[in-house]
Amino acid sequence: MDKFIITGETRLQGEVNISGAKNAALAIIPAAILAEDVCRIENIPNITDVTAITRILSDLGARIRVVDQSTIEVDPRKIHSHVASYELARHIRASYYLLGALLGRFSHAVVTMPGGCDFGVRPIDQHLKGFAALGAEYSLEGGMVDVHAAELKGDQIYLDVVSVGATVNIMLAAVRAKGVTVIENAAREPHIVDLANFLNTMGADVRGAGTDVIKIYGVERLHGATYSIIPDQIEAGTYMVAAAATAGNVLIKNVIPKHLESISAKLEEMGVEIEEYDDSIRVRRTGPLHKCNIKTMPHPGFPTDMQPQIAVLLSIAQGTSIINEGVWDNRFRYVEELRRMGAQISVDGKIAVVEGVDHLNAAPVKVTDLRAGAAMMIAALCAHGTSQVEDIQYIERGYEDIEGKLRALGAEIRRVSVFDPAPVARVV
Ligand code: EPZ
Repeated sequence: MDKFIITGETRLQGEVNISGAKNAALAIIPAAILAEDVCRIENIPNITDVTAITRILSDLGARIRVVDQSTIEVDPRKIHSHVASYELARHIRASYYLLGALLGRFSHAVVTMPGGCDFGVRPIDQHLKGFAALGAEYSLEGGMVDVHAAELKGDQIYLDVVSVGATVNIMLAAVRAKGVTVIENAAREPHIVDLANFLNTMGADVRGAGTDVIKIYGVERLHGATYSIIPDQIEAGTYMVAAAATAGNVLIKNVIPKHLESISAKLEEMGVEIEEYDDSIRVRRTGPLHKCNIKTMPHPGFPTDMQPQIAVLLSIAQGTSIINEGVWDNRFRYVEELRRMGAQISVDGKIAVVEGVDHLNAAPVKVTDLRAGAAMMIAALCAHGTSQVEDIQYIERGYEDIEGKLRALGAEIRRVSVFDPAPVARVV
């Protein structure tokens, strides 16, 4: 249960390199189960969620070779089970991608039910609706989901809710099904496109990813492939907001500017200067921050995974801003911690009203989930005084070497190990 000690009021300056996308890696690594040969996956972020998902594959019998810090080779040929280890899978929500991958490979999958988390219930009814449409039957007992099919056949599936997870899981189950599967009202996130590109590199026939209609023409078999994961849109957005919050000047490298359009637009609306290049983006703030209203939406809308971070920026903007959380039921738990630093935020359901203040003040704050943790770090970087950000294991789920990257930008940050006899926090 380590913590970061951060002294604020340091303008972040310099360059930062963005790692591979967590939410693409968590879908692509399980997808390697579908191949009949070795898959080499590059630009993988070095984060604990990725370590967890590769452990699950290894436990199933896959041979994982670590080539270097951001490259692995997955040999799925020795996978001997369709039952994912409860002990390993219960720690991360993305373990539910094993359902689609194992069902697609073995026509049978048994995986733990994903837990709830700090921003509301996290149902999988749309995943199950998709599997059923492909001819699978499922049962939920003892906290496990058991899905099996005599034969997977393509069908038309309309998602009642735009769901990244359901879109991914149906793609994984459908690529080797007989016939054509059409997913309507599909998620359009960059990591959906990345998964489709990886599957097609393996010999699948997935068309329309990135739009709300994805067609999957089932193929007999998938071969091995070499693939490099896209840069992480949310990690990039987090450093953009950190640069703006500290009135800094940062070149954020190894990004796809198009994936950051909604974030850039809102930062510019707040008076932040943005310069886009081919694979980098410069963020500079010299003047005051203006108020701005935010509604989080599925891509290409403003990402929900940037909501806590932008709330910190709005807390020190001039005027009153409104945040409307359009994706999750309860994604404002971090507000209590931000209030401890002097933020003036009132929350009513999925709406937060942010009254800008001149500055935040340092405090010891807790982390409630991954993106809330990133927000707390941004708050500590711009607050007056020295803050303690506790429970940083949540942050390390999704941010590679955040301490080193921030220190290279001039942040005054150090890690303190805290022995805590309490059980390890369940991370989902
Ligand atoms: C993915 O979660 C991401 N996680 C989340 O990022 C992200 O917040 C979310 O997509 C939205 O972009 C990963 O990719 C590992 P959803 P997921 O299914 O797939 C409802 C992070 O910080 N829903 O798109 O679980 C659901 O309740 C994490 O990196 C159903 O009702 O999200 C929510 O309101 C946090 N039934 C909405 O849809 C279902 O069967 C969107 O959920 C599935 C979802």
